[in-house]
Amino acid sequence: MIERSTDQLCRICALLVMFPGLLSGQVVKNDSLQPIGWDVEIRLPEAPDLNPDPTVVEIEMEARVATVEIAPGLTVKAWTYNGLLPGPLVRVNVGDRLIVHFTNNLPTSTTIHWHGLRIPIEMDGVPGYSQPPVEPGGTFTYDFVVPDAGIYWYHPHVMSAAQVGFGLYGAFLVEDPNENVGVSDDLVVLLSDIGLDDEGVLESPDSGGSTGMAFGREGNHVLVNGKKMPSLIARSGAPQRWRVINAAKSRYFKLDMGEGHRFTKIGGDGGLLEYSVEQDFIVLGAGERADVIVVPKAEPGSQLIVKSQLHNRGYGSIELRNNEDLIDITMSDIPVYESPPLPELRRQIEPFHAEGATQIKLELTLGQDQYDKKFEYGINGIPFWEAKPVMAKLGETQLWTVENTTPWSHPLHLHGFFFLVLDENGQPVRPLEWKDTVDIPFKETRQLLVQFDDDRPGTWIFHCHILDHADGGLLNAVQLGLPEGMFKPMSSH
Ligand code: C2O
Ligand code: CU
Repeated sequence: MIERSTDQLCRICALLVMFPGLLSGQVVKNDSLQPIGWDVEIRLPEAPDLNPDPTVVEIEMEARVATVEIAPGLTVKAWTYNGLLPGPLVRVNVGDRLIVHFTNNLPTSTTIHWHGLRIPIEMDGVPGYSQPPVEPGGTFTYDFVVPDAGIYWYHPHVMSAAQVGFGLYGAFLVEDPNENVGVSDDLVVLLSDIGLDDEGVLESPDSGGSTGMAFGREGNHVLVNGKKMPSLIARSGAPQRWRVINAAKSRYFKLDMGEGHRFTKIGGDGGLLEYSVEQDFIVLGAGERADVIVVPKAEPGSQLIVKSQLHNRGYGSIELRNNEDLIDITMSDIPVYESPPLPELRRQIEPFHAEGATQIKLELTLGQDQYDKKFEYGINGIPFWEAKPVMAKLGETQLWTVENTTPWSHPLHLHGFFFLVLDENGQPVRPLEWKDTVDIPFKETRQLLVQFDDDRPGTWIFHCHILDHADGGLLNAVQLGLPEGMFKPMSSH
């Protein structure tokens, strides 16, 4: 299709050959304000729906090693879903049933975890708790009803740091047909990174030993929808809705559109916010998401680079490092769009109540093994392989006080349920937002409120989404509505 060239400009030339109207002013497609092909280089392919029922989405997913191109001329043998990096976009409507026929053609066992989805434990994708690992050559059928609109993602839960680092992740968009944010041009923007050596071969997931683990290994190539700095053609002044996912195994992103631009954040991990907020930057720890409206503004024909600024996630995370370029936006010469004000968004969110909540204290800790002196993360000093689960009753509300005593930040993720984050006064942070992954900055404390439903008993894990940290001990489980003693520590996760 597109002839790739090593030169950025030629990529745009190639696009122009494909879509001659790109920079010249044609607006097509029903209510789109963008030129034809504006997103052709960046848009994620979707998994084809094999089921004619409009409320059932049925797809095939195969995990396998495949060669993918992450930049013109730069290919890598990655671990993929359906040969794609990232995996196919799964797009459903809220309330749909999703059926995934999954086949593992990797050399090792794996699973799929549906990050952020409030689904039954049998579908949660954690070996040892919710299903057996899917062995090489094996299959598993995931089948569940999707309960909440929002932007989610999927990834394995076996040797997570290695497998996610090798490329196994994809976006999961749950739309609400009744929602109208007033913007018709939208994109899913999945941010990640990949570690390659000089030969372009996947870097060992153990690089740097236990010190590498303690920091959280970051890949040396930053990717946006699987590409290094892909381009987008935009009409100046026309709003776009971006659902942004941080699927990197350790890296934080701090999105910056440059001078004169702000983000209108309309949603987070679990759907729309109570009301939208304007922000100069969007900071996402590993695993977090944001739903934002952006309005690129620049002279027709000029370029705008979306960057990630350095974010201090602890010792060694900002020294001798630079901002990263993420997306290259070329402004088409369609006349500037004068956007009418966007509709005001409101979402009714009923907060949980902290009164009477069970108090749970969790200290995120970093220690060293007394014999081999290797670093080891833990919760209250105990790594997951020795931990006792947090016990919870069906329907119970818990107030988690999470204190991070370590020199690095930890985006804490709970499977299967949403958190509300509380402020210093113990009140829910406004606008209210459902979170499944909450950054606990180094040397700080956060209070999180969680209410466990009464119909989804199970062993639900929670862990740092810097996946090296999870593998290094920072993981435990909530044993919900089950008697004590049923907990079995995982051999691998
Ligand atoms: Cu994306 Cu166990 O998590
Ligand atoms: Cu961590």
